[in-house]
Amino acid sequence: MPDTYILGIESSCDETAAAVVRSGEKLMSNVVASQIATHQPYGGVVPELASREHLRAIVPVVRKALTDADQTYQSVDAIAVTQGPGLAGSLLVGISYAKALAFALDKPLLAVNHLEGHIHAVLLEERQKGNRELNFPVLALVVSGGHTHLYLAEQRGDARDDAAGEAFDKVSKLLGLGYPGGPLIDRLSSHGDPGAVKFSLSQIKHPDRNLRGKKEQADGRPRVDFSYSGIKTAVLRYVELHAMKNGIESRRQALSEIPKPSLENCLANCDQQTLDLVASFQRAMVEDLVAKTLTAARSYDVATLFVTGGVAANAELRRRFEEAAGQEGMPVYFPSRALSTDNAAMIAAAAYAKFLTRDFAALDFSAEAGMTLR
Ligand code: KG4
Ligand code: ZN
Repeated sequence: MPDTYILGIESSCDETAAAVVRSGEKLMSNVVASQIATHQPYGGVVPELASREHLRAIVPVVRKALTDADQTYQSVDAIAVTQGPGLAGSLLVGISYAKALAFALDKPLLAVNHLEGHIHAVLLEERQKGNRELNFPVLALVVSGGHTHLYLAEQRGDARDDAAGEAFDKVSKLLGLGYPGGPLIDRLSSHGDPGAVKFSLSQIKHPDRNLRGKKEQADGRPRVDFSYSGIKTAVLRYVELHAMKNGIESRRQALSEIPKPSLENCLANCDQQTLDLVASFQRAMVEDLVAKTLTAARSYDVATLFVTGGVAANAELRRRFEEAAGQEGMPVYFPSRALSTDNAAMIAAAAYAKFLTRDFAALDFSAEAGMTLR
């Protein structure tokens, strides 16, 4: 089998990304243009602005990915693009451009599910390291801004409402800390006491989602449900109860006057009580994700764990997963930090399997904002 060079394009949310991957196992280039600066003033992604930024960035980003990989439009073997899930307008920018390229260059087009991409980020890097020893079944926790899912063959543990990354972002916004919240909370947490505030399990769950005592599925295995809208409310209650609102407002004001606030800027504007709350919130999130994933891993007798998606970049999450999986003698794999958050290398890597089976997309396929993975 000759080498296959796939150009991947990803534009599902707020990063415009392109990459070239050789035969699903060698990263040739990886370019990500972040829109953080555009959305920062709004404390979250504004869909209309995201589409506009994708339009602006897509051509130079793709060109750079080709140049970095020593490739040209003509030399790549196929074009892969994220079909969904994601923001419809954002997805359409990547899809339209990928279609235009495939049509003009007369190359095969491959449509990839973004969540499948996150799983392939792990596979790509393990193959690149020469690790051919991955044992199946694999249970993969995809934990990002929009998704908290467990995948095993046909089985899926679902996020009921807020995804884990969304909880990080919302709590950060609520505390006047800025966007995106995940990386910030990750770094601030080491300055606080994670045992300071205790969040109970019932606080983490949304009250309607307590499943009324139903802990098992029809097949007798434990149910795994991720739900993170409750913990945001619990943080808000804590803030109200401890009269932290004024402090939050002054922090929001102070940070909004700094163009690109650094960790030091955030730290200088946080009192110990806030840092303790942040660390405790992160601890509760991590403990919940680890405990539920391990419960599922045990009940399905899996051989290997993958943890991927933006939240998988979290240092405490990685440490806790390594500890817990180590105790069970179960290997756990993460992508590098760069491939944990959204990127196009994972899309090009996932597309390789489709290329091999000639599972090409028709030129009239469309974005699927609510696409699921089975
Ligand atoms: O996978 P991703 O880049 O985009 C989606 O597919 O959603 O994930 C983005 C999410 C955001 O919610 C962001 O706050 C979170 O991942 N995130 C983190 C960290 N880095 C990014 N959460 C916790 N700790 C981090 N270090
Ligand atoms: Zn993602």
